[in-house]
Amino acid sequence: QPLPTFDLVLFGGTGDLAMRKLLPALYRRKASGYLSAKSRVLGVARSELSRDEYLAQVQASCQTYLGKDYDEKRWAEFAQHVDYVKVDASAPEDFAGLKKKLEGCDEHGRAFFLSVAPDLFAPICEGLATHSLATPNSRVVLEKPLGHDQASSAQINERVGRIFSEQQIFRIDHYLGKETVQNLLALRFGNTLFEPLWRRGRVKHVQITVAEELGVERRAGFYDETGALRDMVQNHLLQLLCIIAMEPPATSDPDAMRDEKLKVLRALRPLRGRDVLHKTVRGQYKAGAAGGKPVVGYLDEKDVPNDSKTETFVALRVDIDSWRWVGVPFYLRTGKRLQEKLSEIVVTFEDVPLSIYERPDTPQALNRLVIQLQPDESIELTVLAKFPGEVMRLRPVNLSLDFSETFKAPRLDAYERLLTDVLKGNLTLFMRRDELEAAWQWIDPIRQAWDQSDEAPKTYTAGSWGPAAASALLGRDGFAWRNEL
Ligand code: BG6
Repeated sequence: QPLPTFDLVLFGGTGDLAMRKLLPALYRRKASGYLSAKSRVLGVARSELSRDEYLAQVQASCQTYLGKDYDEKRWAEFAQHVDYVKVDASAPEDFAGLKKKLEGCDEHGRAFFLSVAPDLFAPICEGLATHSLATPNSRVVLEKPLGHDQASSAQINERVGRIFSEQQIFRIDHYLGKETVQNLLALRFGNTLFEPLWRRGRVKHVQITVAEELGVERRAGFYDETGALRDMVQNHLLQLLCIIAMEPPATSDPDAMRDEKLKVLRALRPLRGRDVLHKTVRGQYKAGAAGGKPVVGYLDEKDVPNDSKTETFVALRVDIDSWRWVGVPFYLRTGKRLQEKLSEIVVTFEDVPLSIYERPDTPQALNRLVIQLQPDESIELTVLAKFPGEVMRLRPVNLSLDFSETFKAPRLDAYERLLTDVLKGNLTLFMRRDELEAAWQWIDPIRQAWDQSDEAPKTYTAGSWGPAAASALLGRDGFAWRNEL
C-alpha cells in the first residue's frame, strides 16, 4: 500500500540529519515501493544550489549511509522525486520561491520537516503562514532539541501552536521509532505474563543505559551549548523511562498512550539543590581510545572551549512517586566515548524470599529482564536452572529472543518508521506539548543546580564506562550496572 501522495519539505535539507538519516530513509521507502509516483521531497537550505548540485550531495550520502543497499537504478528512480529550493528563514521573500514550487499541488498532503536550530522553528512556521503555505492538511515535524529549557520550549510551542493545531504537530524523538521500543510495548501490553510483576515489591531496580562509542564528531558547536542532559536525558532516556513505567493505556489511541506517559513525567520526584549533587553524576571524557585507536579528550575536540564544563556523560537516580513505583530506583545513564555502543533497559526482580537450593550468591543469580535496543535487538530473561549433576545446584541461564533471528522480515530504521507515521498522520510515537514541557520542568532544576555548583564534571577516560562516581551511585544502594556484574 503506497503512502498517500505528499510534498515533504525538508528544512535543513543539506544538514547532517537530512543527509545521514532522512534522505536515506526516504530512498528506502521508495525502494520498497511505498512512495507514490507524484510524491516529492523538497530539500530546503540557505545555500544557492542547483537541483543537480543538491542531487549530487544526496547521492553521495545515500551511497555512504546505505552501503550495500545502495543501487544505481533505484537511486535514479528516487532522484526523480527530489528537488531543491533555497530558503533563508530570516528572509521572508525567499518563501515565495518555495510557494512557487508547491503551487498547483494543493491536493497533496504536505509535511514540513524542520531539522534546523530550534530558534528557527517559529520564524519558519510564521513564514509558511504568511505565504499561505500552512494549509489545514499540512503537518509540521519538529526535530529535537525543542528549546533549551522549559521557558524556551513553551515559547516555541506557543508560536508554532498559533499556526498549526496540536494534531498537525509531530515532535520527533527517534528513540520511539526504534523497533525494540515498540516491542517493549508489545511485551508489556500484549502479554499477561509481566504485568503482575511490573511493580514495587516485585521489581528491585531498573537501569536504562544509552552508551555511545562516538565522541562529539563535528557537532561540537551545538553540543557544547547543549550537553548530555539536554541532548539525551530530557528526551530519549525519559521517553524510555515512560514506556517502562507507564500504566497500561485503555486503547491504542495516540492520546491514550500520551496521557499515560505524561502521568509518569508528572510523578517524577523533583531533583533540586543538594539532592541533585547527591543523585546525579556528570562526566566529561579525557583522552583515551575508541575502536582500538587513540582519541583526544573533549576539551581538545575542535570548536570546544578549553575550559568547557559541558557534560558528555550523565548518570542519575530517579524516583517515581506513584503507587506502582515508589521505592523502586530507576538508574539512567548516557554518555559519549564510552566503551561500546549499547542501549539497554535492565529490569531486575526481587530475589526468592527463602532459598532452599544451593545457588550462587551473586547479583547475576537474580531474575532479570534485559531489553536491548542496540547494537542487537533482543529480549533476554535470566532465570535460575539446575546445573546437571547429582546435587541440586542452581545457575543463571538466559531465555533469549533475538528479533532478527526470529522474524526474518525486513525492519524499518527509526526515521523510516517515523516519517511513514507522519505521512499517514499517526501521532502515537510523537510527543505532545504537555509531555515535552513536563520533561523540561523536571530537567531544568538539575541543570540549574549544576550551573550553580563549583564542582566541575568528573573526568573519565575515553573508552571506559564513565566516571567511578557513576558506579558509586548504584554501589551505595547495594547495586551495580549490568556491565560491572
Ligand atoms: C541524537 C543525539 O538525538 O541521538 C546525538 O543528538 C546522539 O548526540 C544520537 O548521538 C544517538 O542516536 P542513536 O540512534 O545512534 O542511538
